[in-house]
Amino acid sequence: MSTEDRLNAEGIRGRLREEARFCAERIRAYDCLASTNRTLREMARNGAEHGTTLLADRQSRGRGRLDHSFFSPAGGLYMSLLLRTDALRGEELPLITIRSALIVCDAVEEVTGKKPEIKWVNDLLLGGKKICGILAEGVTGMEGHLSAVVVGIGVNARTRQEEFPEEIRETAGSLDPEGEIPEIRNRLAAGIISRFFGEPFPERAEMMEQYRERLCMLGREIEVLPSGRKGYRAKAADVDENGNLIVEKKDGRRECMSSGEIHIRL
Ligand code: BTN
Repeated sequence: MSTEDRLNAEGIRGRLREEARFCAERIRAYDCLASTNRTLREMARNGAEHGTTLLADRQSRGRGRLDHSFFSPAGGLYMSLLLRTDALRGEELPLITIRSALIVCDAVEEVTGKKPEIKWVNDLLLGGKKICGILAEGVTGMEGHLSAVVVGIGVNARTRQEEFPEEIRETAGSLDPEGEIPEIRNRLAAGIISRFFGEPFPERAEMMEQYRERLCMLGREIEVLPSGRKGYRAKAADVDENGNLIVEKKDGRRECMSSGEIHIRL
C-alpha cells in the first residue's frame, strides 16, 4: 500500500534547516501550474525575493532543456527556486547548474538512501534511468542585466513505469514507484531548499571534484549531438573547471563542449 505523500508548504517548512528558515514564508505549493519556472520568472520580474520557491503537484506545460516538454503528471516533484544575483558572487553564477545537480543528488541520497549518478550536464540517473531533470533560466531586469536565476527541478518521485509516455518509457525511471517512502516529496523539497539557501556556496575545486565523482560517463564512449550539426562518437574525457565537457575524438583531437550546444547519448 502506498504511504502518505501530500505535497504541501507546511510539510516542507517544518523540515527546513535552521539556516534556511528565512525562506519558509516564501514557499508556495499548488495543485497545478502550467510551469513552475514560467510563473516564478514572472514573479521575479515583479520583485519576488531571493529564496522564493514554487512547487506543483503537476504541471500542464512542464518545460525541459532545448525547448523540450517535461512530462509532469501528479505525484512528481516539480519545483522552482529563485536566486537573486545580488545574493551571489559573480564567480558562482556559471556554476549554479552544477551545484543544483549536486544538491539534488545529496537530497535524494538523504531521503531514499539511493545514490544517483549525473549524466552531463545535469540529468540525474538511477540504474541508468533518468529520474530528474534541471532547467536553470536567467531573468533580466529593466536595464537588461541578469537580475535572477530560476532553477527548475523535476523529479519523477512516484511515477510508475507504465505511466511514462512510450517515447521515454525505456529511458525514464522513478525514485519510489511503489510509494514506500512516506512524504517523499516534502522531504526532498525541504532537503533541496535547505541546501540552496542554508549552506554556503562550496569552493569550485571541491564542487568539481564531487561532480566528477558522480558523473556516469567519464572514460566512456558517447554520442555527441551538437545542435544544427551532424552527431559523432567520441570519448567523454573530462569536465573542466567551468563544467564544460571535454570530448576526445577518434583522431585524438579534443573538443570543449558547453552545455548550450550539445546533447549526448550514452
Ligand atoms: C530537462 O530534463 O530537460 C529539464 C527539466 C526541468 C523540469 C522542471 S519541472 C519544474 C520546472 N518547471 C518547468 O517547466 N521545468 C522545470
